Amino acid sequence: MAKIRLDKYIAEQEDITRSKVKDIIKRRNVCVNNITIRDGSVKIEPCDDKVTIDGKVIVYKKFIYIMLNKPAGVVTATKDNTEKTVIDIIGDEIIRKKALSPVGRLDKDTTGMLLLTDDGALNHRLLSPKSHVSKKYLAVVDKPLADFDAAVSLCRQGLNIGDEKDTLPALLQQAEIRNGYYLTITEGRYHQVKRMFRVLGAEVIKLKRLSMGRLVMDKNLQEGMYRYLTEEEIDLLK
Ligand code: URA
Repeated sequence: MAKIRLDKYIAEQEDITRSKVKDIIKRRNVCVNNITIRDGSVKIEPCDDKVTIDGKVIVYKKFIYIMLNKPAGVVTATKDNTEKTVIDIIGDEIIRKKALSPVGRLDKDTTGMLLLTDDGALNHRLLSPKSHVSKKYLAVVDKPLADFDAAVSLCRQGLNIGDEKDTLPALLQQAEIRNGYYLTITEGRYHQVKRMFRVLGAEVIKLKRLSMGRLVMDKNLQEGMYRYLTEEEIDLLK
């Protein structure tokens, strides 16, 4: 692995600014392989060198994984000339934010769980059609489904939403709110949930993603807020 500057390494791993790192290197005991270092420009090998601050090891995080509760009104893209993107929401305290990519896509008006990571292999695996990763949504529609039991069967069988192939079996459930339904799908076709409800005779008014695979949206995360995934949550994705 390529060598990187000590100050850049600490900034990235600890998510602190380079100027804070400068201060830490000046005032605290920063060691590389047990030798105190006062010069942030020293080059280190992230996988092999042991970096400590006052004896605490800085564990090398190869990738970062963030759960965002996407608000409505932002686009799922890394860059956009006119619209605010999900990456624009992430503050500069996430030093590696420019390397992040969204895992899949939510429409501009859809809210809820969106993962952001710089782990390209995991991103690819989660999105691969072969992986059949389940995604559970809460949809609020304009009117109750006329025949709920028939709609459940149709979703289970697969719906013709105008694509070459019918949708894969999906699970439709009643939610506890007025005109609310849970729909769990294992694909990620363009506007899939909205198109499925249209075939069932209703228009989606509000859509929120609640989970992806075994990873469930943190109920304490308000819309527009984000946090790092815990080690346990990262394992759920693998
Ligand atoms: N299905 C949709 O129709 N929209 C989304 O944002 C996600 C799934």
